[in-house]
Parts: sequence; structure tokens; C-alpha cells
Amino acid sequence: MSNALSSVARIAYLSSDLIVDSRPPFPSVSPFAAQYDSLHATSSRRPTVYPVPVAGDPGATLLRHGSAGLASFTAVATAQMIIRLVLHAAELSSLPLVLHLAVTDDLSDVLLLRSAVPFFLVSYTPQQAHDNALLASRLARRENKAVVHVFYNSDDHVAEIDSDSVLPFLNSENLSNGLNGAEHTPGAELYKLYQAAAASTSARVDRTLSSLSSSGPSTASSVVFLLGQAEGSIEVDDVLFASVNLLTPFTASQIIDTVPEKAARVIVLEQVHRSNTKWSPLYLDLVAALQQREGTRPHIQSAYYTKASQVTAESIAKLVQTVAEKPASAPIQLGDAMPSPSCPPQTAPHVPKHELSYTKILAYVFGQRLEISNSPENVSSQGAHATTPEYALGRVRAQVEQRADLIKAVQELLEAKETDADLHKLLSQWLLKRDDGTKSRPLADEIVAALEASTPSHPAAARILSLRQYLPSQSRWIIGSDAWSYDLGASGLHHAIASGLDVNILILDTLPYSARNSGDPHRRKQDVGLYAMNHGDVYVASVAVYSAYAQVLQAVMEADRHKGPSVILAYLPYTTEETPALDILKETKLAVDAGYWPLYRWDPFKESEGREPFALDSDSVKNDLKEFLDRQNHLSQLVRSKPQLAAEIVGNLGDNVKEIRRRKAAAAYDTLLTDLDAPPLTILYASDGGNAEKFAKKLGNQAKARGLATTLATLDSVPLDTLAGEEYVAFVTSTAGQGEAPQNGRQFFKALNAAVARGETPLSKLRYSVFAMGDSHYWPRPEDAGYYNRPGKDLDARLAQLGGERFAELGLGDDQDADGPATGFKVWLPKLWKTFGVDAVEVHEAEPAPITNEHIKAASGYLRGTIAEGLVDTSTGALAEADTQLTKFHGIYQQDDRDIREERLAQGVEPAYSFMIRVRTPAGVCTPEQWLRMDEIADEHGNGTFKLTTRATFQFHGVIKRHLKPSIQEINKVLLDTLAACGDVNRNVTCAVIPTMSKLHKQVFEFSKLVSDHLLPRTTAYHEIWLDKKMVAGGAIKDFEPLYGEFYLPRKFKIAVAVPPTNDVDIYANDVGFIAIVDDKGELAGFNVTIGGGMGVTHGNKKTYPRIADVIGFCTVEQGPLIAEKIMLTQRDNGNRVDRKNARLKYTIDRMGLDVFKAEVEKRLGFTLAPARPFAFDRNIDEYGWHAGEDGRHHCMLYIENGRIQDEPGRDYKTGLREIAKVHTGTFRLTANQHVCISDIEPANLGEIKRLLAKYRLDDLNYTGLRLGSQACVAFPTCGLAMAESERYLPLLVDKVEKMCEENGLRNDSIVMRMTGCPNGCARPYIAEVAFVGKAPGAYLMLLGGGFHGQRLNKIYRENVTEPEILEILGPMIKRYALERNDGEHFGDFVIRAGYIAPTTEGRLWYDRMGGEGEHRIAA
Ligand SMILES: Cc1cc2nc3c(=O)[nH]c(=O)nc-3n(C[C@H](O)[C@H](O)[C@H](O)COP(=O)(O)O)c2cc1C
Ligand code: SF4
Repeated sequence: MSNALSSVARIAYLSSDLIVDSRPPFPSVSPFAAQYDSLHATSSRRPTVYPVPVAGDPGATLLRHGSAGLASFTAVATAQMIIRLVLHAAELSSLPLVLHLAVTDDLSDVLLLRSAVPFFLVSYTPQQAHDNALLASRLARRENKAVVHVFYNSDDHVAEIDSDSVLPFLNSENLSNGLNGAEHTPGAELYKLYQAAAASTSARVDRTLSSLSSSGPSTASSVVFLLGQAEGSIEVDDVLFASVNLLTPFTASQIIDTVPEKAARVIVLEQVHRSNTKWSPLYLDLVAALQQREGTRPHIQSAYYTKASQVTAESIAKLVQTVAEKPASAPIQLGDAMPSPSCPPQTAPHVPKHELSYTKILAYVFGQRLEISNSPENVSSQGAHATTPEYALGRVRAQVEQRADLIKAVQELLEAKETDADLHKLLSQWLLKRDDGTKSRPLADEIVAALEASTPSHPAAARILSLRQYLPSQSRWIIGSDAWSYDLGASGLHHAIASGLDVNILILDTLPYSARNSGDPHRRKQDVGLYAMNHGDVYVASVAVYSAYAQVLQAVMEADRHKGPSVILAYLPYTTEETPALDILKETKLAVDAGYWPLYRWDPFKESEGREPFALDSDSVKNDLKEFLDRQNHLSQLVRSKPQLAAEIVGNLGDNVKEIRRRKAAAAYDTLLTDLDAPPLTILYASDGGNAEKFAKKLGNQAKARGLATTLATLDSVPLDTLAGEEYVAFVTSTAGQGEAPQNGRQFFKALNAAVARGETPLSKLRYSVFAMGDSHYWPRPEDAGYYNRPGKDLDARLAQLGGERFAELGLGDDQDADGPATGFKVWLPKLWKTFGVDAVEVHEAEPAPITNEHIKAASGYLRGTIAEGLVDTSTGALAEADTQLTKFHGIYQQDDRDIREERLAQGVEPAYSFMIRVRTPAGVCTPEQWLRMDEIADEHGNGTFKLTTRATFQFHGVIKRHLKPSIQEINKVLLDTLAACGDVNRNVTCAVIPTMSKLHKQVFEFSKLVSDHLLPRTTAYHEIWLDKKMVAGGAIKDFEPLYGEFYLPRKFKIAVAVPPTNDVDIYANDVGFIAIVDDKGELAGFNVTIGGGMGVTHGNKKTYPRIADVIGFCTVEQGPLIAEKIMLTQRDNGNRVDRKNARLKYTIDRMGLDVFKAEVEKRLGFTLAPARPFAFDRNIDEYGWHAGEDGRHHCMLYIENGRIQDEPGRDYKTGLREIAKVHTGTFRLTANQHVCISDIEPANLGEIKRLLAKYRLDDLNYTGLRLGSQACVAFPTCGLAMAESERYLPLLVDKVEKMCEENGLRNDSIVMRMTGCPNGCARPYIAEVAFVGKAPGAYLMLLGGGFHGQRLNKIYRENVTEPEILEILGPMIKRYALERNDGEHFGDFVIRAGYIAPTTEGRLWYDRMGGEGEHRIAA
């Protein structure tokens, strides 16, 4: 037992070089594909198999690929696919191609192909299907012609040809020349070819293959031509059955030979569910053939049926009797006269009344001439597809051909001798005026009347009469609208344009302007105009009846006059039939005024007459259109400027341009078309840090490149009920916290879980696949393995529980893989492409490069971007995404309150956006007046507090957008600014505070300021945006960045100046450091220069690491700024601009080598650095308390926990410092440890200051050494990068750890303990003796072994610790430290000596031996 389909697939596989296989809608699989897969495994033949998606354009694929060897197309026939094939039939018909089409019980669709191909075979049994498949392959291969092979798919025993014989058979010589009869009609030649192939096949398979098999008495008075399947053979008295196996060519002689001379009636019985035309082509063939018979002719009746079971001896007998008794003129149905249930009555689609506003214009302008080729009125007679653009185009094509035939007949009659003078005159007038809408009609009437009256014997006269409907000129229109021909915007349009036919296309766009962003972006009606214009010879107009009625009239008339395709885009914004006309009017006005819907007319032929082809009928025009016109103008100007060359240019260049336009149009079309062919893919992602978003976008880009229409959104933006309506969705989610969903996916997950709990299955329509992203090592303990990629895995399972169906297995992206998540992505993607049938699509275009900070910088007009515009946009509290990168250079970070982010999301409001402003205070020094202003700004514009930062400056949080400008103006009023406080530039230069060394401080302070000023960006954007300084003349941007250029630096850049023995600026954590060298006389001799320090790391990315700076030599004070500059420029030119995670100077140095980098700097300097001079640091914590300077003035270093200046119960620090600032005459020096030194206190002021310090308890330094050495970054709630608490939590942790210290007698011993909320390392955790770096709320990396004065990196000791674990680890460690430490031994040194952790000797080795040593080691 075999089945027809597998037999056919086998022959197709064994005989073809290329197979194009049409895929049914997902989830069904192609029945042919299964056979191909199994043959692939067993056969040595390897034809190329291209799957084409269900709505694809197989004809285009065949034309693209099917030139060499035999091609086979295999499909289960559908109306849509057949229509698409019909469009290409003319080109396909001369290819060696077999179209194997499986049918079940309806031939109505496949019959559309009948007249379009040279051969059309029908097989009713599996054995026939096998034999005809072989015959068809031979015929196609030998004759280089297309053969349609339609076969009924059923099961039966099939005797198959053995595999090895197929090819030899196809290539063997014909056994017979097929000569049979001497007919010389066009079909006869083809019929001979068929006969030859049939004879050879017959001989090979040892079975008869005939074009028409008959059974029954040869003298029968009734003949039934059966085109369709019957159950078994049927015998009816006096009836001859002729089963049609070869439908094309179907020659008259075959028919005449078959129908007995005495036959009284011939019934053409076809198995069709609906008729495409009143009379079937087979019926007409029979009528035509039997007309040639002499004598009495039989009555010919058309009949149809739908089910094989309806063909019985009784039903046929009854049919014959009915026809004998009462011949009908219309087709009759076999058996039950009721309409078949599978043939629902075709109702015309409803055309909304608003659309009449355009069709009425057409009717008004063209009257009787109007022919709407896809009019819904045709549906009742021609089926649902009558409104499709393909069908309409077919109609137009046929009409145009008929008219050409008519013209030929008129010419023939003109030349005929018997044509009298009057008729001759009429005919010649008509020939001249045939395209004249007004004159051709009366002429037509006269011609018809004349012909009917005189009935000339010339056959051309009869032809003219039969084609009379084409005598008057017609205006042919195809209308595309959402109501009844949605598809026209793409494939239909392309075909119409490519056809070159004189057809007018009116495309209605109904999307209201105010809903423009919510529309389906794939409709692209607005692009259609440009697309058509690019073709060069298409008339294009964009009109809006509610804006310019006269322009619509003008456009339709011009379109009608244009000989060739015309496209009119018509705007009609309405949502329902009830939309009031006033609303349409308003929406139209908005769209036209905004340039969203420009009104224009483009007549390419005016160009050839030297006239302007483009007429803009409205004021505004969109950019893309403008670009097109600019290109066009350029060409015109070129021609005009060199008239002597004009002909040449027009002749050659013009053609080239046209050719280029055509190619562009073809490419645009490919994109348009493929977008429609494959099902659209929705991509939903959830991402915290942007990684998953990046992969989702990558997926989107790659899908687009493969021709899929895609939509991208975050998980939370799609409610579950919306998802229920989606068909294909790819999910990309990363993992946050401990196995938690990222923030922008949490609502979705909640909804998902709730639906699962309710036991619902709302997603039964959904086909999905999930790509999960995580880090298998993020939580390295075996018991935490469940956290790995948890959200993705959960999502995958939950979607299935809710009824969804996976179209590709879960993909897993792991940061630990060789290529990070890209490794898993590469495995997952092909499965996805396979589902969509685009795995074989070759992607030629490079993926569009993502927009990076480098692009943003370069495109910003020297840091302007659209910040100014964003500031006045009151509709959102945020700035544009790209602008938020630029504002960093202005010292401004956009943030949102993360404590309430989720809640706001749930409420459906945007996050509580606010901004952080960082001030630039070179060397951390400010005046009391400046301090007071900062204090005020925090109250008036910020959240009432401010922070002293690790870069010794002020930072405000919670400044909302409209307060940004006033804040910056206030800051400016006291001669401070925020320029370059953040961003890819040199940031605030920090400087040692050294309260005791007044003279030296003055010198290093001046030096720091000089370096800061020297490296300041020069853009005027800052003044323009924030300080309302005038724009550069004429608005043109003429800034010039002598040091930075338009790309600025690859990454941030930090410089510090230290004065030994205190390393309070943590010189080794800076990109560039200047270590002051004091000579014997106490004078500043110069600086040792350090380079390459940096803290930032990315969890799980071992290519990132902290690094401490190297000392590279000594320079004088004067040389310093230049050295800083040259180091910065060397980094500018050598830093990694592709990967921001690898862009800091530290990586550049390690990549280039320290010596090479130094040599490059020296080359740029023009001198070499002197050898470094000896120096020694002994601490990096601040020197708290009172100090007297050499100049007699006093300094008091205060302890400000984590730099937060605020009033708290019992600690009114903010008020206290304000009060001090009011009386203080000296300076405030901010430290890089986030504290402040009240400096340069005049002796006269000392008492008052002391009083105030005491009053506000600011002089309280009675803290443990641990607390005084502790430091935390901001983290929650404002820092967007925070993964865990820091500033709000470290004091609490210190409370607990200091108890341990106190218990062990270490109250006053300094231990440098730092914490940050993420691995970015703002509080320089990697050089602390003990540090905690946030991984997720409540969970931290724990690091040990940093140098006490910042000279050595620490190392990861534990990868995930919570507070109880921290205390459990530190308890015994501190105890041992207390008991076992050497004299003066610091904690960081002790933990190394005691064997807890290995020392880190350089950044690149930071990960080596992480996880503890010996007994303290746990599997890392
Ligand atoms: C704070 C934080 C917590 C994480 N927790 C997990 C986790 O529990 N399980 C896991 O597999 N990956 C975890 N990861 C790894 C991330 O999921 C992974 O790096 C991903 O690529 C980040 O993508 P995103 O930038 O889109 O958020 C975590 C990463 C971060 C930053
Ligand atoms: S270390 Fe991370 S969490 Fe802390 S302030 Fe810096 S970026 Fe934010």
C-alpha cells in the first residue's frame, strides 16, 4: 500500500535538481517534506529543496532558482498559492518544471492554471499519479516546458519504478515520435510531444497511459466527459465515459474521435466546488471542437459535482435523463440540486460608506468608462478572490489582450476589400480615437450598428462584434483598501507596476493621524508612493479628498491619461462607519499640515518634456520624500547646467539612474513582499542591564533580514489577553536578582502565574519559543543551581501550561560560555529560522550596526543632541534615550526612583524620572558661598540632601526635569559648573586634602585646577543649553574639540593628585595619577606619574578586571598638564571603541603593553619621562580631626558617613555645615573618601567654628576604626545600575562588624571596608581590605586582601554572601587577626599571610585563585 503523494514526492525527488515545496500553515508539516527527508537519508541524490511558506510566492522562488536542470514544485493546492503561481505562469511555462499539485475533491483552483501552461495532466489513482509524475518529469525535462500535474491524493497499491532507473529513463530517447494524425493546430504540436513522452513512459512502466480513457459502448447516445474522481468504474446503459487525463493540450481531434457520431448529448462533468467563470474551459473546448463537426451536433451540457461518492450509476443515469428531457443552458449539479455545503454563497465584502467618497469621484469623472477590476460586485459571480489585486490584475491583463485583439481585427477589416466606405471611415476614426474616453464610445455604437446591419462575411467582423465591449475606451482601476483588498499595498502593487499595464491603482489609507503610532507598521502604505516613484515610469499621486477635492480630480484624470501604471494614495482617516465626517476632516487636516500626508503628484513623463515632474500640492513634506526629490533635482540640475551634454547625460546617465532606481525598487519590493509572505514574528523581551534587549534586537534585525515582519516590545508592555491574539512570539528574557525576572517583565510574570493558578489556557493560538539568558556561575553554589536561567525556563513551561505551543525548544544563553550568551543564541536561532521556513534564506545584507555611544557622540553636534528640545517637552519626565547618554557629559544622569519603579509600572505610569547632577569642583575645593548655594539647590531643586562623592564633588539627586536648568544656572552663579563631571571625558580631578601642608596644598590645588581646565571639553553646547547663551551664528554648529574630536574618549577618564604619605585620593585607582614629590627643602619638585588604574568590572565577564596603576616616571609641575593631555590622547586614539566594557585605559595599556603605551606618550610629548622618584604612602583614609597648617590657619576633617549631607535625628549635619558656611572665611575641601575638611579657618574664627561643630555634633569622631575607614557608593534608590543596597546598608553592617572588632580589642584599628551596589566600583571596593560588591538584593561578592593604602587589589573570596554569612566569615577572621597579627600588620595583609586569600599581583590575575586558599577555599 502506498499513497499518491509519497509516490509523487519520490519521483520529484529522484528526477529533479531543485524542489520547491510549499509549506502548509504551521503547525502542519509539509507531507512532501517528510518524504524528502527520508529520501535524503537513503538516496544518493541531493536535489536542493527550498521550502516556501504558506503565503509565500513560490513562482518567484522558482524563477529565481529554477534555471538549470529539472525543477519540481510540490504542494497541496490552495487558492491563494494557485493565484500567486498564475501571476508568474507566463515566465514559468518555458522552464523545465513540473508543478505537482495534490487535490482532494475540488479542481476549481487548479483549473485556473490550465490555460497558463503547455501541459496539464490529471491523475485520479495513486498508480496514475506515479506514472504521470514520471511522464511529466520526462516531458518537462526533455521539452523545457512546464507541466502541471494535478493528482488526487489517496491510498492504494502502487508499483513504483526503482530509484536507479528514474534518471536514465528521463534521459533516454523517445520510443516513438508521437506522430498521430496530421492536425496543425498549436495544441497538436504539444500533443505530439505528450504522446511521445507517454509512449516512452508506458513502455517503461508497462502500463497504458492515455490522454483520455474511455469506457462504455462506442455507439452510445450520451457521452460523459469526466474531469474528476469517481469511486470505482461506473457502467450506465447507452453512456460512454471519457475520463480526461490530459487537459492541456486538448485537441479537437481527440474530442471528435471520442464522441460517437450519433451521440445526442455530451455532458462535461467536472468536480468543482465553485466555478470561476460561467462556462468552464473544458466545456468551451468541447463546444468549439464539436462545432467543427458536420451534420447534427450533440447538445453539450455542463455539470458539476463535489464528492466522488456522488458519481454513481443512478446519479449519472438521472443526469443523462434530465439533460435528455430538458437541456439546460446553465451548468447543472449532479445528484442533489442543493448547493454544496462546502460551497458557501459568496457574499461581496461590505464597502464602508466613507470609501464612497473616492469611488464616487471615479464614477463621476469616468462614468460609463469606469471599470473597477476588483469590484466587490464581482464576488457573487466570480468568488471571494474577485477582490484580490492578483485577480484584478489578471482581469486587466485579459481585457488589455482582448482589446489588442480587437484592434487587430479592426485593422484586418480595414484592409479587407469588401469593407464599404462608411464602415471604413468609422473604423479608421475609431482607430485614431480609440483611447479617447469621450469619442470612442459613440464611434463604438456606430460601428456595432453598422456591422450588425451589414453583417460582412469577413471573419474579422464577427471578432469585432464578439469583442464589442472593448470598443469604448475604459478607465481601469484596482482599488486597495482595508475593507476589501488589504494586500494591495505590497505584492499586488508590485505586480501591477511590474506588469507595465495601463492600469490605475487607488490605495486608501484609513489610519487616522492621531493613531499613527499604533497602526500596523507593516502596512506601509505611505512608503508605497516612494516605492512607485523609484520605478521611474509610474504616475504617483498622494491625495486627500477631505483636504483638496480638486487635487483628487486632477490626480485621477492625470492617472487615467498616463499610459502605464498609475498609483494614487488616498487618505481617508476613519475608524468606523460611524466616524463623523468632521473627524475625518480634522484628522486629514492634521496629517496634511504636519507633512505626514503630503499632497503631491509625480508625473515622470513631464520630465522627458523638460517640465518639472513633481508638483507639491500641500505645504509640508516628509524627509524621505525630500531626499528622493533632492536626488531627482540633482540630476535635473546636472542636465541643465551642461546643456551641451544634456542628450548624453539623459541618454546614458538617465538610463543608469533609471536602472538604479529599478534595482532599488526591486530590492524594496523583495523586502515588502517577503514581509508579507512569512508570518509576522513578535519579539518580547525582559532585560535589566540591556543585554537581553540587545539580543532581542539582534533577533529582530536578523528576522527582518530574512524577510520576516517583526515587532519588538518589552514583556510588560503586552497584557496576557493581547498575547492570546498573537501567533508567533519569540521571548528573550535575562535573569535578575536570584533567579528573578527582570524588572520590565515582572508584571507579565505575575499575570502568567495567576493565569496558571486559575487553570486557564488562553494561549491556545500562541506558538512560541523562549531564549533564556543567565549566568550559570552567578550563584555558584550547587544548591543555587535552580537560579540559573530560571525566568526563561519558567516562562517556557508556563506558556505551555497556558495552551501555547513551542515552535522551537528553549534556548539557553550563559554568560559563562565561550562567547557568552551568543553561544546559546547561535544554537537557538537556526531552529527558529527553520520554523519560519527561512533557514535557507541567504542574508546578504550586514546586520544593521546597533546605535552605540560612539554614534550618539558623533551625531550629537558636540554634545547637543536634542537635549534642548527634550527639556521643553512636558509630556514626559524623561529625556530621549540618546540624549541621556549626552547629558552625562553635562554632569547629568537620568535616573528613576527604583523603590517605586514596580509600583508605578503596575499603575501604568512612567517611572518616577529624576536626574542626578554632579558638580565639577577641581581638587574638591569650594568656598563657603558655594557650599551655601549647594545647600540651597538641594532644598529647592533636589531631594533635600546632597552627597559628597568619591570624586570629591557634590552630587544632587531627585532633580526633576523642569528643575534641571534652574539648578545648573544656580550652580553657575557661584562659578561652579557641571561640565564633564560625567561622560567619556576627563572627569573631576581629585587632589589630596593634606590639611597640614598649606603651601603644598596650594600648589597641588593649583596644579589640579590647571589640569582640569586644560582637559575641559570646549563645546559651547553646555552654555547654550543650560545657560541660554546664544547659539553659534546662524544656528550652524561650529564647535571644535581640539583634544577630544567629535567622538570624545572611548570611556571615562579620571585623574588624581596625591601627596604622600596620604593616598586619600586612591591614586592607583585612577587613569592618570600625579604623586607629588617634595624636595629636601620642602618645595614641590614635581610628580611621579601613574597610569592605568581603574575599578569597573562586569560580573561574570572575565575580560573585565580592576587594575591598579603603574608608576611610569617623573615629571616637573610644568610638564604635568601636557603629560596628562598626551596620555589622554594616546588613550583617545587607541582605546577600544567597539566594546565599552573593554574601553578604559587600563585595558588599552594591557593590550598595548605598558612600555609601548609609555613610548607612544613620550613620542607625543617629544621627551622622555625622568625616572620615578622614591615616595611612600601609609594610608588612604582621611586624617580626621583638627590640624594646624604651616600658615597658622586651622583645618578640621569631619567624618560624614558615606558623604551624605542631611539632617538626621541627633545629627543635623546639613544644618550644621550651613551654619558654619555662613561664618567660615576659608574653604571646604571635599575628599575622595566622601568626607569634608573645614579648611583655612582663621584663628579668629576658630572659636565660633568649634562651637558650631560641637553644637551639631560634627566634631564627633568617636567612631571605630572600621567605621572611619568604611565607604559606600549611592546605589539604591537612585543609581540605575545598583543591584544591591550600599549607602543605606553599609552603616548597618558596620554596626555589626564593629561589635566584633570591639569585642576583640580592635576598636581603634583601621580596617578599610567598602561596599558598592554593583561591580562598577564607584567606592573603589577592589582596593579595600575587605569589600562587598552587590550582586542582587541582599547578596554580595566578598573580597579580601586589598592593600591598606590602596596599593594592592583584593580578590574575590566568596561569590555570594548574605549578611549572616558575612558575619559568620568575619567573626573568626577578625578574632584571629586580633590574636595573630604582627606588629602594625594591616587586616588586608593579614588575611593573605594567614592563608585566607592569595595576593593579587596585577589586574589581569585578579580571578586567579579566587575563592579562598587551602581550608578556606570553597568550590568557586
Ligand atoms: C543582579 C544580577 C543578578 C543575576 N542573577 C542571575 C541568576 O539568578 N541566574 C542567572 O542565570 N543569571 C543571573 N544573572 C546573569 C544575567 O541574567 C545575565 O548576565 C544576563 O545576560 C543579563 O542580561 P540583562 O542585561 O538583559 O539583564 C544576574 C545578573 C545580574 C546583574
Ligand atoms: S558602584 Fe554601581 S551601584 Fe554604586 S553608585 Fe556606582 S554605579 Fe551605582
